[in-house]
Amino acid sequence: MSHSDKRKKPEELRSHRWYGVKDLRSFGHRSRTAQMGYHRSDYAGKPVIAIINTWSDINPCHSHFKQRVEEVKRGIWQAGGFPVEMPAMSLSEPFQKPTTMLYRNLLAMETEELLRSYPADGCVLMGGCDKTTPALIMGAVSMDLPTIFVPAGPMLRGNWNGNTLGSGSDTWKYWAELRAGNITEEDWQGVEDGIARSPGHCMTMGTASTMTGAVEALGLCLSGASSIPAPDSRHAQMASLTGKRIVEMVWEDLKPSDLLTAASYDNAVRTVLALSGSTNSVVHLIAMARRSGFNLDLDRFDHLARTTPVLANLRPAGKYLMEDFYYAGGLRAMLVQLGDLLDTTQRTVDGRTLGENIAGARIFNEDVIRPRAQALIERDGLAVLRGNLAPDGAVIKPPAMEERLQVHTGRAVVFKDYNDMAARIDDPDLDVDADSVIVLQNAGPQGAPGMPEWGQLPIPQKLLKQGVRDMVRISDARMSGTSYGACVLHVAPEAYVGGPLALVRDGDRIALDVPGRRLELLIPEAELAERRAAWQAPPPRFERGYGVLYLKHIGQADTGCDFDFLQTETRAAAAGEPEIH
Ligand code: FES
Repeated sequence: MSHSDKRKKPEELRSHRWYGVKDLRSFGHRSRTAQMGYHRSDYAGKPVIAIINTWSDINPCHSHFKQRVEEVKRGIWQAGGFPVEMPAMSLSEPFQKPTTMLYRNLLAMETEELLRSYPADGCVLMGGCDKTTPALIMGAVSMDLPTIFVPAGPMLRGNWNGNTLGSGSDTWKYWAELRAGNITEEDWQGVEDGIARSPGHCMTMGTASTMTGAVEALGLCLSGASSIPAPDSRHAQMASLTGKRIVEMVWEDLKPSDLLTAASYDNAVRTVLALSGSTNSVVHLIAMARRSGFNLDLDRFDHLARTTPVLANLRPAGKYLMEDFYYAGGLRAMLVQLGDLLDTTQRTVDGRTLGENIAGARIFNEDVIRPRAQALIERDGLAVLRGNLAPDGAVIKPPAMEERLQVHTGRAVVFKDYNDMAARIDDPDLDVDADSVIVLQNAGPQGAPGMPEWGQLPIPQKLLKQGVRDMVRISDARMSGTSYGACVLHVAPEAYVGGPLALVRDGDRIALDVPGRRLELLIPEAELAERRAAWQAPPPRFERGYGVLYLKHIGQADTGCDFDFLQTETRAAAAGEPEIH
């Protein structure tokens, strides 16, 4: 039976239990809705659509959401629904310390609990700044009401002195030039003023663009939505159309569990790879897939990477920015090129298949979106490394590193934590050369805590001055998707829980072999065992509040850093509808 055959009746709506029945509690719900100025004809028998809005005064990537939410509401009203905006925690990547990743699962919980505890029949999720996207999807997938995501859209290209600037990537680049003495303080201020000049998320292929693209490939937003720049009028149109569509989805009872499959997650992984997307997406997609009941793992990423070309010529791996990508045809045009690598029979929120949605999408600039025959890179947009230094895996992004470092052995220079690194990295007496391997310990999910984006470890100033711009760097941290370099990330298990990374000492030799997918600490096993026996767990990072909950339940990077009690196996027991009588 198709979804349109089993259209819901008004009295079958979940919200009917709040508004539609005749009892004392529903009197309260109706009288309090009247208090807000709504007549019963505004909502009676209509789908209640929760709009989970992550707008905040401190989130520049979502500064247009105050306006966009009105456009979503307009669509909902027009389609005969009742919009209810619900603000949720805004994870603002530039401001939240120590890292938004610490709070991804908190927003996921908030999303799920808002939807569960209030009379929502369906939801529109408004996000885009890095962790907001996976958090909102994880929560909504767990609640499994009809759901559409509104991607914030990328900001416009940065501009300074006639140069195009890309979020993050050009920050690191010009910071290195400033430290090397190649640009002035005045130049640096010009970069500061020009690099972010409109609402919207980072416009390089960072985590935001990667994750919103992945969500589109999963079929959870309107087709084409993720590429539209935030200030473009077509973004506002998309918001309104989303509002219209979600009302229909409620009547059709079309839920994430009807759309998400192992194949749609493979489509999302392929999309990330073809975009040369952020390594952060590995952690997020694994967490999202597991919430959906699919055991996506690191090996699946590596397997799909071996046959997926990089087609998007976007910084940091390539040349252009998201605005160019949109004008060149956007994600739909790129997906057409992936062709048989995708399962185009997967269904999407608009009721059509992925294949139907992308049919006929054309490329308008073949340098920005490469046709399959002219791929930017043939394969390996991402590689998963294993070895005695990362028994549960580590991740590296080969297109973002200097080729000569792909197979490299060097002496370790070890920092026991971030503060140790900050204090000593630029010390002129630091025993380091261009062939050294820089190691940062205790920067993982529990150790940092929150697995911050510290993985692009700085190159020592004295080497920068010698012209060195890339070195092998290893940590259990993540790296911003806008960063680049030979950075081995997400080493699991992390140092803080006693993973082998904790046992590395200055002078140890470390071998990296990206084509061979190996990461080895070249010391005898007996010596390693001795160090392991002597290792002592560092003290807990939190003594109160959310942090205690976090440390108790957070998983390692290779399993998506979700909380153990939120994974799908435990969802059925933990979920359930609220008592409203
Ligand atoms: Fe929000 Fe980069 S700071 S997406």
